[in-house]
Amino acid sequence: MTELTDITGPAALPDPVAFPQDRTCPYHPPTGYDPLRDGRPLSRVTLYDGREVWLVTAQATARALLADPRLSTDRRRSGFPVPTPRFQAGRDRRVALLGLDDPEHQRQRRMLIPSFTVKRAAALRPWIQQVVDELLDAMIEQGPPAELVSAFALPVPSMVICGLLGVPYADHEFFEEQSRRLLRGPTGADAVAARDRLEQYLGDLIDAKAKDAEPGDGILDDLVHRRHRGGDLERADLVSLALILLVAGHETTANMISLGTYTLLQHPDRLAEVRADPALLPAVVEELLRMLSIAEGLQRVALEDIEVSGTTIRAGDGVLFATSVINRDTSVYDDPDGVDFHRADRHHVAFGFGIHQCLGQNLARAELEIALGSLLARLPGLRLAAPAKDIPFKPGDTIQGMLELPVTW
Ligand code: HEM
Repeated sequence: MTELTDITGPAALPDPVAFPQDRTCPYHPPTGYDPLRDGRPLSRVTLYDGREVWLVTAQATARALLADPRLSTDRRRSGFPVPTPRFQAGRDRRVALLGLDDPEHQRQRRMLIPSFTVKRAAALRPWIQQVVDELLDAMIEQGPPAELVSAFALPVPSMVICGLLGVPYADHEFFEEQSRRLLRGPTGADAVAARDRLEQYLGDLIDAKAKDAEPGDGILDDLVHRRHRGGDLERADLVSLALILLVAGHETTANMISLGTYTLLQHPDRLAEVRADPALLPAVVEELLRMLSIAEGLQRVALEDIEVSGTTIRAGDGVLFATSVINRDTSVYDDPDGVDFHRADRHHVAFGFGIHQCLGQNLARAELEIALGSLLARLPGLRLAAPAKDIPFKPGDTIQGMLELPVTW
């Protein structure tokens, strides 16, 4: 049994707060989570449908529980916590990789690891730099002003993941729109329809690749020709994997670029610091990942009873992880709400932890360093083109980020 060591003893649990909530400032946790920030590792929260589940809010507890095989990511299991009605309708389907527990999860992850190593991400840097440079050239030629999400933050990761997977970038408007509906559509039915359209599209693409005598060099080509043909990967799982890689590969990083830029522009001293010393960029990216915690509310269900120092999570209980609160744990971080590029601790859970820890993290770090570094270097006068309070950001029940980011220079 995993021992959870950072908890001093059972404490009375305060009244549950609602989860998730909208942020009041796009780079801070919602003020409604303040009662969750008093150092307790576990709290009760209420979901949109009135159901109560556990919320993990301390770093050591989060890392122990995210590495604990008694928690499952299989959304078909009863008790799996659904933080938004959009995800309710899709719960009956097997989701590859992210929705599977070991050993099945590990079998799929092993097929993908070689494409996402640190070394592979490093080898991709010159090409990512080229993608970034061309987008900045076009933006500079057109502007100022510019809308940074559509001109830069979204196309960078979208072009990169298309190139890596072997998906035609010409179809980007279609898959970006469907991804948006999947993650942020107005209703559950809308999200399911978007998922179905993406699966149809990727299924057709995979079937076309299977007919190619000479496989292309994308990850999907490799999966089709080596894994699917070799009998290691069913077509349905291949389509589901393609969907996860395509959606996770562009939405998340796009939000980090837009929200990261906004956050730096709101902290002029820190912005000046990184402009003066671009060698800080890896630390800047790490600090922005911690602060922004764009993937909020990771979801698990308990398969067995789990003792968390005096509190028992019961088998069948839903467990959510508030990354925005965990990454500001006061027992780990001094001045957790401040931006500091010189922090010693690098154990944030912005990419999750344990067996499902983000597969694309090396790629994401490379993209963020190159995108943010080049944006600041090429546009020394970069600033917001509208009052900060008027710039719209995403609601709390989806991946956090800016809806639009008007800038000038
Ligand atoms: C800054 C950008 C990104 C952030 C913040 C992020 C965040 C995360 C988080 C928190 C998880 C764990 C979810 C959980 O445990 O429930 C995850 C998993 C995953 N991410 Fe990312 N991600 C990012 C970029 C990417 C990119 C570029 C890819 C490209 C392929 C990617 C692919 C995946 C996949 C496939 C998984 C599932 C891994 C598994 O289940 O084994 N992510 N990501």
